[in-house]
Amino acid sequence: MVRRISPRSHIVLLLLLIIVALVQAQDQSGFISIDCGLPQNSSYTEKHTSIFYISDSGFIDTGVSKSVSAEFKINLQQQLSNLRSFPSGIRNCYRINVTSATKYLIRASFYYGNYDGTNVAPKFDLHLGANFMDTVKFTNASVTTFSEIIYTPLLDYIHLCLVNTGTGTPFISAIELRTLKNDTYVTQSWESLARLRRFDLGSTTNLQYRYKDDIYDRIWAPLGFDLWTQISSKLTNDELTQNHYQPPTIVMSTAAMPVNASASFDFYWDPDNVDEQYYVFMHFNEVKKLAPNETRSFNVTLNGKYWGGPLVPTYQSTSTIFSPSALAGESRYLFSLLRTEDSTLPPIINAIEVYTVKDFSRPETSQDDVDAITNIKKAYGVARNWEADPCGPTKYIWQGLNCSYDGNDPPRITSLDLSSSGLKGQISSYISKLSMLQYLDLSNNNLSGSVPDFLTQLQSLKVLNLGNNNLTGLVPNGLLDKSKKGSLSLSVEHNPNLCASTSCNQQTGGAISNKKKKNNNNHIVIPIAASIAGVLVLLAIVATAVICGLKKRKSKAVNIDEEQTAPNFSKIGPNQRQYTFNEIVKITNNFNRILGRGGFGTVYHGLIGDTQVAVKMLSPSAVRGYEQFLAEVKLLMVVHHRNLTSLIGYCNDESNIGLIYEYMANGNLEEHLSGKKNNAKLLSWEDRLRISVDAAQGLEYLHSGCKPPIIHRDVKCANILLNENFEAKLADFGLSKPFPTEEGTHISTVVAGTPGYLDPEYRDSNKLAEKSDVYSFGVVLLKMITGQAAYVKMQDEDNKPHISSWISSMLSNGEIKSIVDSKLQEDFDSGSVWKAVETAMACVASSSNKRPHMSDVVTQLKECLAAELARKRTDHATEQSDSLESDLASISVTTTEFEPIAR
Ligand SMILES: *[C@@H]1O[C@H](CO)[C@@H](O)[C@H](O)[C@H]1NC(C)=O
Ligand SMILES: *[C@@H]1O[C@H](CO)[C@@H](O)[C@H](O)[C@H]1NC(C)=O
Ligand SMILES: *[C@@H]1O[C@H](CO)[C@@H](O)[C@H](O)[C@H]1NC(C)=O
Ligand SMILES: *[C@@H]1O[C@H](CO)[C@@H](O)[C@H](O)[C@H]1NC(C)=O
Ligand SMILES: *[C@@H]1O[C@H](CO)[C@@H](O)[C@H](O)[C@H]1NC(C)=O
Ligand SMILES: *[C@@H]1O[C@H](CO)[C@@H](O)[C@H](O)[C@H]1NC(C)=O
Ligand SMILES: *[C@@H]1O[C@H](CO)[C@@H](O)[C@H](O)[C@H]1NC(C)=O
Ligand SMILES: *[C@@H]1O[C@H](CO)[C@@H](O)[C@H](O)[C@H]1NC(C)=O
Repeated sequence: MVRRISPRSHIVLLLLLIIVALVQAQDQSGFISIDCGLPQNSSYTEKHTSIFYISDSGFIDTGVSKSVSAEFKINLQQQLSNLRSFPSGIRNCYRINVTSATKYLIRASFYYGNYDGTNVAPKFDLHLGANFMDTVKFTNASVTTFSEIIYTPLLDYIHLCLVNTGTGTPFISAIELRTLKNDTYVTQSWESLARLRRFDLGSTTNLQYRYKDDIYDRIWAPLGFDLWTQISSKLTNDELTQNHYQPPTIVMSTAAMPVNASASFDFYWDPDNVDEQYYVFMHFNEVKKLAPNETRSFNVTLNGKYWGGPLVPTYQSTSTIFSPSALAGESRYLFSLLRTEDSTLPPIINAIEVYTVKDFSRPETSQDDVDAITNIKKAYGVARNWEADPCGPTKYIWQGLNCSYDGNDPPRITSLDLSSSGLKGQISSYISKLSMLQYLDLSNNNLSGSVPDFLTQLQSLKVLNLGNNNLTGLVPNGLLDKSKKGSLSLSVEHNPNLCASTSCNQQTGGAISNKKKKNNNNHIVIPIAASIAGVLVLLAIVATAVICGLKKRKSKAVNIDEEQTAPNFSKIGPNQRQYTFNEIVKITNNFNRILGRGGFGTVYHGLIGDTQVAVKMLSPSAVRGYEQFLAEVKLLMVVHHRNLTSLIGYCNDESNIGLIYEYMANGNLEEHLSGKKNNAKLLSWEDRLRISVDAAQGLEYLHSGCKPPIIHRDVKCANILLNENFEAKLADFGLSKPFPTEEGTHISTVVAGTPGYLDPEYRDSNKLAEKSDVYSFGVVLLKMITGQAAYVKMQDEDNKPHISSWISSMLSNGEIKSIVDSKLQEDFDSGSVWKAVETAMACVASSSNKRPHMSDVVTQLKECLAAELARKRTDHATEQSDSLESDLASISVTTTEFEPIAR
């Protein structure tokens, strides 16, 4: 039950001792001593301990250097006078290189010393890698606390993390690592030892000892009680025969024994909770040269049960007894040293260590993944709080990552989202080292260079989004193949110089072609020409396949539709819609003014006569972009409605393919709701309702006015464009699909759309139906009502509920006013808002069966508008809208069964 370590043969030990003596004198080779907060590149030898400390700046990038208040510096060991404080970030981590599979004593020291002048010491957590280590707290400002563990790292680095738990700013004063012999403090592999107590018993000096007295720099605190007395003798290092634990000679030269020589020597502790497990190490040395008629012999009991013995300490020789496995399950741990009957002397004990068991077995992320992501972080200078283990603990997973966790295997990175992160330069080859990656989003950055072949090697990759960058060249065939097969969802649009088709021209930069280069690349031009021919053929087919007309209705709105169906350009008749590239150059004043980047190309401002237009040039881009372009052309040829952007003309001059639309002077709804656009208009409730009625009518037309119905598939605020009168038109038909089936059925497609607007039922089932558009439109309405993003930003940054669940929870508290966009300043008819909320919530019903048809939505929204106008009429009779009559005229009184929601 108890192992006993006996001294080795004297000759061997003498040799060892000589070496040890040398080591003790000067060598700190197993030491890493870090003074946190010390200026960069600084180092010093501490004058009390002779320990050589270095600055922490090479181990951490975050935090600020501070110093304790002057009155706390008196007689202080130097490493405690500086500290590093972490006012920002939840988790800040040191990364310290170590030798893997080596046993370390790791100590973190904390000395508050009123460094921040508040005189309130904080409380915070300490983590080692993915595992909780300790809660750091202080009894008062002048007390040093330290947290210490014995731990064998599996990797060649450790992460020591300070975690803000909302009870003050974490800080740290020093970090010390010391290697230990691997045959000491032996535990099960998953068990690490956190120091609970380490006492020098029988101390005659009442001093604390550490390095140089202890070659492992353990800190030994003196402990004495009235019931104990001391026994000691002078002892030199050479005289003491050590075992591998090597407790300091000064500690071993004194021992405690009971005052009453016939009584037992007792001590105990009570655990905070019964699940705590312990390891105990007791060190013995006979300090008295015994006479021949003297013996000292005793047994050790734990809670009255035999634990070890009889022990006969050897003169000037260290022996250690310890529990071979963890002690557990007791409410008190009472140890007694009982002298045996034949013993003439009472029991003694020189030193004791008690450790609690920590399970640090939760693995850190696979090292290959960590290396890769760390290199990616460096390569792009990612400015996120990416510290310590990427995947763990799950609560602190790096923003933009997702990981897979499989039992005791190291977690793997499966998802990397670095969209909109200001990335510059090439696509980093380190990405290919994330071998389990399934999802990669690098969109909305400024990446340049080619799309590298190594992306093809990522076997698990299912989603790759490279959209909206400045990538050039060709998309590797491997990726195109996967995309075609449907195993990869590939997006590369908005890369003006990227060619994502086997049949597209490498050097055509968006709209501007270069004739000389083109001649060198005839073999590429030919397929382009062929595909343009393809466009036109398809146009012809589709034009006959989809028929959109005007729904026969009695309402006045229809008449307005009819009036505005034909584009308002006298020069452009049905046969005059084609433009040459030279004409496009003139119209756009040599592509002088960019309006934005649309579905799959750049949109330029243009003038035809005095009429402003928007010209979208197809960049020879992704296959999908090309298909989207085709889809849009097809639809726009047959779709005409005043609430859908209309096509004025197109260009199919060699490799230059472009579309000319009517110009929408006021951008899109998103810009105005978010206030991001310069001169964004604060849209009133009435404005919002008019825009929503417009957009709903556009969508209704696609669903009900066309045969087969057309599903837009990307309804969102950014696709609702506003003209100079803030009339809304639905745009971007790149994803739209005619829907050739009976109502209630559906088609299967590759899921496409915009996160936050995407119908969850469609996302899960791949089955597309009109009601998916209704869902997206519901999200548009919710955003319009609340001014919030599709994923609502909460104070708790980890928590971003979808706007629909956010509103449900707010409504269940009966808080209608608190959900409405505060920018409206409560200037609205609350009945109207309430009805709009109900309509929107019905649209986002999780089951598509419960969602209304767009025609019902149009009706409901018109009623909302009527209510708001009625209020305004009473409030400000003079500001009555001219169009009031027509709006009221088209309101019908059909009621739709909406899902009841809590008021
Ligand atoms: C620290 O040393 C490095 C390398 O020698 C040097 O680049 C850096 O400027 C130094 N920093 C300070 C604060 O002296
Ligand atoms: C830690 O090790 C890594 C990899 O071997 C090395 O790149 C890095 O410079 C080391 N860090 C320090 C502070 O020595
Ligand atoms: C802080 O604690 C130390 C040690 O327990 C004690 O000596 C000191 O008086 C305490 N100071 C205050 C201000 O309580
Ligand atoms: C300790 O390390 C030595 C080599 O450094 C190795 O041979 C031995 O097996 C290790 N012992 C334990 C208990 O890990
Ligand atoms: C000393 O301890 C023994 C055994 O516990 C006890 O019988 C005795 O009364 C004690 N003597 C004194 C003076 O306390
Ligand atoms: C041991 O021997 C010494 C003399 O050598 C004597 O004074 C002492 O009383 C003896 N002690 C015991 C416990 O017998
Ligand atoms: C001490 O332990 C030995 C060996 O296990 C046992 O024989 C003896 O009775 C014990 N003595 C006391 C006083 O407990
Ligand atoms: C895109 O890259 C081209 C060179 O390949 C460069 O001329 C152009 O300025 C870049 N555009 C942007 C917006 O960075």
